Amino acid sequence: MDFKIALLRGDGIGPEIVDSTVAVLKKIADKFGHNFSFTPYLIGGCAIDATGLPLPEETVKGCLESDSVLLGAVGGPKWDNQPGDKRPEKALLGIRSALGLYTNLRPAKLYNALRAASPLREEIVGDGFDLMIVRELTGGIYFGDRGYRQGKYGEEAYDTEAYSRVEIERIGRVAFETAMKRNKKLTSIDKANVLESSRLWRSIMHELSAEYPEVEYSDMFVDNGAMQLVRNPQQFDVIVTSNMFGDILSDEASQITGSIGMLASASLGDGTRGMYEPIHGSAPDIAGQNKANPIATILSGAMMLRYSFGLAEEADCIEKAVDKVLADGFRTADIVGNSGAEAIGCIEMTEKILERI
Ligand code: IPM
Ligand code: MG
Repeated sequence: MDFKIALLRGDGIGPEIVDSTVAVLKKIADKFGHNFSFTPYLIGGCAIDATGLPLPEETVKGCLESDSVLLGAVGGPKWDNQPGDKRPEKALLGIRSALGLYTNLRPAKLYNALRAASPLREEIVGDGFDLMIVRELTGGIYFGDRGYRQGKYGEEAYDTEAYSRVEIERIGRVAFETAMKRNKKLTSIDKANVLESSRLWRSIMHELSAEYPEVEYSDMFVDNGAMQLVRNPQQFDVIVTSNMFGDILSDEASQITGSIGMLASASLGDGTRGMYEPIHGSAPDIAGQNKANPIATILSGAMMLRYSFGLAEEADCIEKAVDKVLADGFRTADIVGNSGAEAIGCIEMTEKILERI
């Protein structure tokens, strides 16, 4: 099969980890007889430097003409003083919205080989955990009305959390469908004891749960959810939550797996086109030093094959190669922990994975 992939390498370690993933996807294309073409576009700080804008029109157009998008990471200290609407991060929100990617799937699983890297105690980790966060990605406070005004105490800034029935229903449906394909267990996380938008969220999730009687459904307040994630992560399978709560809880979920450098994500809309990216950031402190862990991006490439291209066997092949490389004891610096292994670089880790495909 033929697929066109847009590459948004971005900033910091973005170029290194995207290049690793391209090498892996090329190997898969050879092995299984596919044809993947790759076209790079600018996004984030590098786009600001080249064009003055974090998300040039050409990038949006290129992504819309592609079958899928692979993104590294954006941002860095160099652009931290840009005004809010010209920051590299703004490009990320812009491209999610322009491509209609309202679903963000963030799996967080504890690899057996990396158990020692989890900050949770042995007895809490038990026999491991494997959860999927379904985060709403194009609504809520990230996209609500915002600005400055004169308030009770003079100058004030405000952001607004708003969710429509349509937005809640469509992400809820994705979550219930995801639960049906996994262990039929779904927890919706909100703040319905305080927020009106959460109360609408909760009531719509309840309506949907009536349509999915096989799914064991429950609600949880976000403060409790944050606590339960570190108290007993095994109680969760699929979690559905709003844009901002999902942002926060997915970082927490990634940390308890031992390394944020391991976790992939998929952003999806109604069609098959998606955007795939690691959940970690651009790590400017180690950029260009061959120290980055490419695994999260490589696993994002596997998610692209599975969710956008329907190539499950090929995706399995990548995931197995990653399992194998870890079982064989290879570690980048971020996941060395107390394993006694000598850290290898991004390039070497990529080679080890390629050898196992
Ligand atoms: C993420 C990131 C982004 C977000 C930032 C960089 C805009 O933290 O993808 O989790 O908040 O969505
Ligand atoms: Mg985040």
